[in-house]
Amino acid sequence: MASAPRSFLGRIFLRKTVAQIQRETETSELKRSLGPWNLVFLGIGCIIGAGIFVRTGNAAALHAGPAVLLSFVIAGIVCAFAGLCYAELSSTLPVSGSAYTYSYTTIGEFAAWVMGALLLLEYGLAASVVAVGWSGYVVSLLADVGLVIPPEFTGPAGYPLVRDGAPVLANGVPVTTIFNLPAFLVCMMLALLLVIGVSESARVNNVIVAIKVTVLTAFILVGGLIILSNWSAFAPNWDPFIPPATGREGEFGWGGILRAASIVFFAYIGFEAVSTAAQEAKNPAKDMPFGIIGSLVACTVIYILVSIVLTLIVPYNQLNVPDPVAVAVDAFGPQWAWFAKAIKVGAIIGLTSVILVLMYGQTRIFYTMARDGLLPRVFSTVHPTFRTPWINTLVVGLAVATAAGFFDINFLGDATSVGTLAAFGIVCLTVIWLRQTHPEIARGYKVPLYPILPALGIVSCFALIFTVETRVLVFFGWYVLGAIALYFIYGMHNSVLAKGGDVMADDETPYFPEDAPLDESGQPVIRP
Ligand code: ALA
Repeated sequence: MASAPRSFLGRIFLRKTVAQIQRETETSELKRSLGPWNLVFLGIGCIIGAGIFVRTGNAAALHAGPAVLLSFVIAGIVCAFAGLCYAELSSTLPVSGSAYTYSYTTIGEFAAWVMGALLLLEYGLAASVVAVGWSGYVVSLLADVGLVIPPEFTGPAGYPLVRDGAPVLANGVPVTTIFNLPAFLVCMMLALLLVIGVSESARVNNVIVAIKVTVLTAFILVGGLIILSNWSAFAPNWDPFIPPATGREGEFGWGGILRAASIVFFAYIGFEAVSTAAQEAKNPAKDMPFGIIGSLVACTVIYILVSIVLTLIVPYNQLNVPDPVAVAVDAFGPQWAWFAKAIKVGAIIGLTSVILVLMYGQTRIFYTMARDGLLPRVFSTVHPTFRTPWINTLVVGLAVATAAGFFDINFLGDATSVGTLAAFGIVCLTVIWLRQTHPEIARGYKVPLYPILPALGIVSCFALIFTVETRVLVFFGWYVLGAIALYFIYGMHNSVLAKGGDVMADDETPYFPEDAPLDESGQPVIRP
């Protein structure tokens, strides 16, 4: 073992060795049981959620109009660049962790810390967004059966209550929402389930994927037939297809399409969960790219078709509602009222599972960081009976619930998109970094058109970041600065690695040489 570098730069570029990560993951003894289609299902399970069921409405109504489908194409391409980079990393570094572990093994501790902060937006904040979306569908379904939650308790703090596009008045004064109670409660309930050890098995995931895909496919087919049977009635909703820019930033025209791309980008978040299953894939070299790109392509097709039906069936300016897909079904006609309810139930089941998966991911990232000493130890304390990181889970649950209870979905969603775009940009950079610093290591899968493709990934992720609202960019800037300050105040001084864990010296070959033997699944064999 080499001694810890003393210089400041040596310190922040301190890296974990692959052997060390392997020792950490050894105890899990994961079985290689996932085939290519299991991985596609795993991806779809995490991907389809509030993005398509909720945020598409806002993106179409306020930013892109019917051209929101082009926004889906743009966001899908950006994700594909990042997805191929994830595939290369997951088939190269035999680790089961997320982008946090990739950063720690390649660029070093500081990058890993920043990545940890970005993943808090990608998983923690995303869970809040989905919870707010969940609340929208639950409130709407309860209203259908005559149960009305006081409207003040169904929205973020301090926002005017809007119904059918108009502010709700009480004695002539606009009513404002105080707190999103259903969103808060669902997060706390799911956190409790995670504490007692409920997480989603592959089988439950497959059932939920089937529900989500069935609901959306039925929407596409029924809506498509209704549209085709009376094309002349619906065609005007696509005229103009790209509403002219209003002059305000991000409102229609091509600027609006790009702005909407950063909004609907949220709908793709989750595909990288496939890469975390690298250790369980039967043939990671082939199955990782297939799982990642396969789930992205499947969701892109579904999203485009759903947005076509959505914007043809309802004038786009009526879609800025909490449950746009259900509103579109209402427009199918009164005989389809049961179907609107079925869509709501399907959406609620699907969104519940996405919140659970995202919160689970967040708690495991904190758990790993705490074991590395970068977060207080209490985050890795395991409950004696439930064997789960219970304090960590309760803290995450409360934070996610509070954000969902008090903030509006557009702010939360944009902040999630920005954080995730930055994380994806760093993942693309990691691929280039690793190829430059360690060209000799065996790579099960290589990104095609290197270095153009990862470079395009970096550029497109960062370009999309700058299409979001200024208030979100300002928040993001302060957030990253705060995270960096915390590293120097806390993380740097408590890192287990720096205190004598395995430290990689520059002259040590950390990865597997090109001639390393591969096992039958395509992974390099580790030699002691
Ligand atoms: N992509 C996930 C969703 O849309 C996070 O809910």
